Amino acid sequence: MFKLTYKPGVKLVFKPYSAAVYYVVDNKNLKQSLVQFEKKFKLKLSSLQLKNIINKKINRLIISNPKGKPETIILNKFKLGEKFTVDYFRNNLAGLIKDLRNDEVLSLHLFIPEIEMVKKFFVDEEYYYRTFMEGLSLGNYAFDKYKKEKEKIKSLGVFIYANNEKLISSAVKKHVALTDGIIFTKDLQNEPPSSLRPFELADRIKETLTRYGLKVTVFDEKEIKKRNMGALLAVGQGSNAKPKFIVIEYKPKSKSSSKKIALVGKGVTFDTGGYCIKPWQGMIEMKADMSGAAVVAGTMLAAAKSNFPVEILGVIPAAENMINGEAMRPGDVIKTASGKTIEVGHTDAEGRLILADALDYASKQKPDEIIDFATLTGACVVALGLNVAGLFTKNDKLAEDLYNVGMKTYDRVWRLPMWDEYHKENESKIADVNNDGGRWGGAITAAKFLENFVDKKIPWAHLDIAGPAIANDLTNYNKIYMTGFGVRLMYEYLSKIGATK
Ligand code: BES
Ligand code: MN
Ligand code: ZN
Repeated sequence: MFKLTYKPGVKLVFKPYSAAVYYVVDNKNLKQSLVQFEKKFKLKLSSLQLKNIINKKINRLIISNPKGKPETIILNKFKLGEKFTVDYFRNNLAGLIKDLRNDEVLSLHLFIPEIEMVKKFFVDEEYYYRTFMEGLSLGNYAFDKYKKEKEKIKSLGVFIYANNEKLISSAVKKHVALTDGIIFTKDLQNEPPSSLRPFELADRIKETLTRYGLKVTVFDEKEIKKRNMGALLAVGQGSNAKPKFIVIEYKPKSKSSSKKIALVGKGVTFDTGGYCIKPWQGMIEMKADMSGAAVVAGTMLAAAKSNFPVEILGVIPAAENMINGEAMRPGDVIKTASGKTIEVGHTDAEGRLILADALDYASKQKPDEIIDFATLTGACVVALGLNVAGLFTKNDKLAEDLYNVGMKTYDRVWRLPMWDEYHKENESKIADVNNDGGRWGGAITAAKFLENFVDKKIPWAHLDIAGPAIANDLTNYNKIYMTGFGVRLMYEYLSKIGATK
């Protein structure tokens, strides 16, 4: 494994095999900044280097500094124009770390630019620092446990230089907790479906989270039957690996009357579509149809590691949507734990079925809020694209808070309507509801379906992460592997909820 460790870099002391990363802003003071840069590293840029960085579209210079230390300096130029977002440094460093991985560098000295110039993008200086660390850590992620040829065995010490040294230490602490959570989420998402069936998902979560001091209870098929969770049973009945229902509890150490937040995550360990089988194209991605579950588990890991003063209840229905002689058929009617019956209009709309029982369970625990995560609909991806989650809630405060943390963390969410007219699409002639909402507004009708199983008195938000959970090419840090989308969002959201009710 290639491990990164972060430390505040106090004095400029560069050991052998070290590199430095430095940023300058491309504005009218560029020349002056370059002079300061030369002073700082006691070097002189050649006239060609100066010409390149000033005149051309070149944004990165790799400067070798054979006589001095660090031996390599990576000078980055960025513009505060239209292309600049709060994701800029994260994305930039994620790209850079990939190049460094094959290098012999032992320590990296990272110089974070003054926040003043990017103040309108980053209000929170500590979080600003964290985006740099996230770029390195996320860009460095690899799922290589099944590869003979591993990443080179080495570690990289990252020294961080920034205006506020105190903030670096607290930023590092939060970053480490959050990254542990994100990596756990990504490892679960990327695990092949052959080794992450419902019992394995439950075992992994139980084994890992117990080590972090959380309580994990797993209901087996017998218990699920006893609790009348007919929808979860129906989805899992076509697989030899029977469903599991996973409950995770985090209680803060301080006994003050904290808020209790329920996080619910779809845990379909593989989604073939059932008898309404999916086409082969893209079916392979359905190994990540348990991303919601992974987000809940990873978030709770990070929250526990950071001792958040908020009570969290994690609820994960886990099943494998397969086909055998016992699998559910279109037309079946199933009875949920809530007592409501569902006509199975479509066996591929299985996520909302298992969530029906999970949201009912969560509601009955009387939390102050419920937030669910699910790779629920392709329709949501059609509406919003690959990189944004659909947000569904009737609660404006919850919508605003989630939108704001989304913009801050760049785990972005966009609200879609929850008008009651859409309920009509989920009507059934023979049961209380139908799980097939038809062709139009598929992400919305799915959310409206879920609403039937949530206690109306509890503020609730549903996040459809079908797009952003899956690997995509839009950034340097979500390529190749499933993304862990949602953990950064939730960590930030939960960190804001104090001990007072
Ligand atoms: N897991 C899928 C949704 C999905 C699609 C997730 C693409 C990630 C990427 C879900 O269970 C599903 O199959 N939804 C159907 C619903 C339809 C049958 C009503 C869909 O979106 O087509
Ligand atoms: Mn499906
Ligand atoms: Zn699914």
